[in-house]
Amino acid sequence: MTGRADIIIGLQWGDEGKGKVSHVLSKGADAVVRFQGGANAGHTVVVGGQRYKFNMLPAGCLVGAKPVVSAGCVLDPDAFERETKLLTQLGHAAKPLVSRACQIILPIHRELDKRLEEIRGGAAIGTTLRGIGPAYADKMLRAGVRAGDVMDEELLARKLQFLKQLHRVDVEVDAALLRERLLPYVGDAETYLNDVVASGGRVVLEGAQGVLLDIDHGTYPYVTSSNTVAAAGCVSSGIPLSRVGKIIGVIKAYTTRVGAGPFPSEVTGELGEWIREAGGEYGTTTGRPRRVGWLDIPALKYACMLNDVSEIAVTKLDVLDGLPKVKACVRYRVDGVESESFAESKHLLSRVEPVYDEFKGWSVGRDGWVEAVRKGWEELPSPVREYLGWLEKTLSVKISLASVGEENSMVVVRG
Ligand code: IMP
Repeated sequence: MTGRADIIIGLQWGDEGKGKVSHVLSKGADAVVRFQGGANAGHTVVVGGQRYKFNMLPAGCLVGAKPVVSAGCVLDPDAFERETKLLTQLGHAAKPLVSRACQIILPIHRELDKRLEEIRGGAAIGTTLRGIGPAYADKMLRAGVRAGDVMDEELLARKLQFLKQLHRVDVEVDAALLRERLLPYVGDAETYLNDVVASGGRVVLEGAQGVLLDIDHGTYPYVTSSNTVAAAGCVSSGIPLSRVGKIIGVIKAYTTRVGAGPFPSEVTGELGEWIREAGGEYGTTTGRPRRVGWLDIPALKYACMLNDVSEIAVTKLDVLDGLPKVKACVRYRVDGVESESFAESKHLLSRVEPVYDEFKGWSVGRDGWVEAVRKGWEELPSPVREYLGWLEKTLSVKISLASVGEENSMVVVRG
């Protein structure tokens, strides 16, 4: 029996709706893994009118799969405790498992994040201030505290002392509390996950942020501090590449970005405001208004290329309801020269002018969408099918899921 690991990633700048998609696709999975980032992410799942927000645990675990936080994450103990308690309240049977190799975010990392942003001033990245960059920096310096360190009181004390010297600040950490909070959950996640797939089980690897925020391949320095590409799912979980099943890329029907950095297809003014309000585009973690814009095809092609995405899920199609026209940026123009290549234009992104294609809009309404979801793919309103059909052809990837609204049940899975 061979099991597999499916990977879910965002193909834009995050907030694509990965939480909902993971919740749908994790049905029947044995384990769901959060594989990078920390409490900078905010994955929302709405079930039966109830809203659940996950910053640290994989949102897909709500369907009953075992939640795992793998080695490549930076674990925020506060968020972890909050979400673990939530699962207990909900009667979730499977206990979370944290890889011994996972890094721990300490209060000092949040403090350093804040200081770095202050020093950057006008060039600030607009981080979530959750200590992500500094925690990953300590990891690379081989100075970080790992989840497994809570198993050894003396080692933990020594490492905290080292950080104090390194950063020349008081590292105020209640080591006893840290041990109490994490000890019951720390274990050999790598062997557990490999055992699941070896015995025919299914694992879902749930990414956070999006490909364009990848530390190596994104719009550096306006990125997060981890690899958000699908390959990071294997690196972090310890599941070999040969076990990867599907790679599902999630795209919002338009684009959003939080924080600073280039955004060629950004829409500002009245229309931008309209889309932001219609889509409730405010950060789940920080409450910051998100920048909004049209789809960016060169960027999406680049994201598909980096991940060899097998399927795409398109979310929030209902947000564009009522617009007479929907646009998508198909090319960039720089100094009068047009290009379809994101990679080629990457260093010039802040200067590119978008060249748009236009599509007929749709006006489906809440009842119409409920009806469309009930009837299935072939009955999606024709302008929506035309838009999705065009997108599928342009990206050369099958669109296998269309999602509207937040409620978990509002999805159309293509047969
Ligand atoms: P950091 O991950 O907090 O260091 O923030 C770095 C950049 O990534 C900033 O532009 C953040 O707004 C962005 N970012 C981090 N997490 C998310 C997310 O979950 N959704 C969208 N943007 C994010």
